[in-house]
Amino acid sequence: MPIQISEADLKDIKFENFINTLENETIFDKTKRLDAVLKSGIKTGNEALGMVTMNKVQPDSKIREKDGSIHDVIMLGSNSYLNLSTHPKVMQGAREALEKFGYGMGAVSNYAGITDIHKELEARIAKFYGTEDSIVFPSGYGANVGIVSALCGSNDIIINDAANHASIFDGCILSGAEVKIYPHRDMKYLERILSRIPDEKTGRLIITDGVFSMDGDIAPLDEIVKLAKKYNCAIMVDDAHGVGIVGKTGRGAAEHYNVMDEIDLHVGMLSKGPGGLGGYCAAKKEIVQYLRLYARSYFFSTALPASVAGGLNEVFKLLETDSAGREELMNKTDYLKKKLVEKGFDIGHSQSAVVPVMIYNETTLFEMYEKLRRRGVYVNIVTYPAVRRKECRLRLCTMKDLSYDQLDKAVEIIAELGKEYGVIK
Ligand SMILES: Cc1ncc(COP(=O)(O)O)c(C=O)c1O
Repeated sequence: MPIQISEADLKDIKFENFINTLENETIFDKTKRLDAVLKSGIKTGNEALGMVTMNKVQPDSKIREKDGSIHDVIMLGSNSYLNLSTHPKVMQGAREALEKFGYGMGAVSNYAGITDIHKELEARIAKFYGTEDSIVFPSGYGANVGIVSALCGSNDIIINDAANHASIFDGCILSGAEVKIYPHRDMKYLERILSRIPDEKTGRLIITDGVFSMDGDIAPLDEIVKLAKKYNCAIMVDDAHGVGIVGKTGRGAAEHYNVMDEIDLHVGMLSKGPGGLGGYCAAKKEIVQYLRLYARSYFFSTALPASVAGGLNEVFKLLETDSAGREELMNKTDYLKKKLVEKGFDIGHSQSAVVPVMIYNETTLFEMYEKLRRRGVYVNIVTYPAVRRKECRLRLCTMKDLSYDQLDKAVEIIAELGKEYGVIK
């Protein structure tokens, strides 16, 4: 039976409308309702769905829209901040591992899926953080879900920054632990939560992103460490967007605050700055050993392809010596931020290569996103469920290889549209 979309559906189109199966619906009817809404032509911010990138990750990119049109864009939407996805040594490392081990591992890591290349990667990550060991998961999302749900259970309490990544919250749900949330970077509120935890509840974990993925700011780890000591909590930092980028030698948010040794679980993603795929946890030996047996997204998931691990070994050789171009990236990021502020944009408080451009109005956001692409600038669109709707924004990510000319050009186009839509004067 064809699906009827109600007036209400069209008037108030929200992501949440399609989460639940309604009364008298099958589980698939919501997919039909969503399809009807997407086909109605009403802007939902999903207009780029079906777009493809036509080249490697690089500043001057080509994209093909769903309608078949092709255009050149300045790429400001990639998390491969250091351009390591295309670094010649990294690609060579990946090629060699591909030749030696083929393109898939065919087994989970605890069976036959792990090679010396994977072992080398885990050793390099542990050395990078100065921990006893590390474990590499085949996906970053899976790393968070697996780590949190393995270490925490129904007797425990997890305290989260409200802006933590979705994968952390999903891990919390799966763990069955009691979950508390403090407003973004609000240390007073965090202390209020900690001070109210009953004494007998001793399984306590504070989790925070290191660099926040949507705001680009850094968690106040110095204060978090103090509070964790005062209230006997363990700390997990997901530094997906900080690894290789922030801190005086690129070791991330914990290095930025000089608290590397105080973090119990150094979690990070191999998909952003490192430019590959996967996630990791660097920690004490017995914690890593426990995760190998109890993190279900590791135990029950096929190992990372050796080619990716081979590329990542070359990445960590560069990161170990801080020679991946972090300084150049940050100089260019600072330049971009300065230009955007000069134009009058609100860019929040970014301290990393993630630069939000606050729009605060979804209709404007959807239109600007669409027009920016068509005019040759690719940026990411961010609204619910990644952030609250009233905090919707464009999310710009810098890459080391972007030229100053490209940054100037992108800012001009963003500013022209910003003026057209009244975002800036
Ligand atoms: C903070 C944070 N953690 C975890 C993830 C998940 O990583 P991956 O994309 O490698 O699965 C992301 C990616 O968006 C992230 O931003």
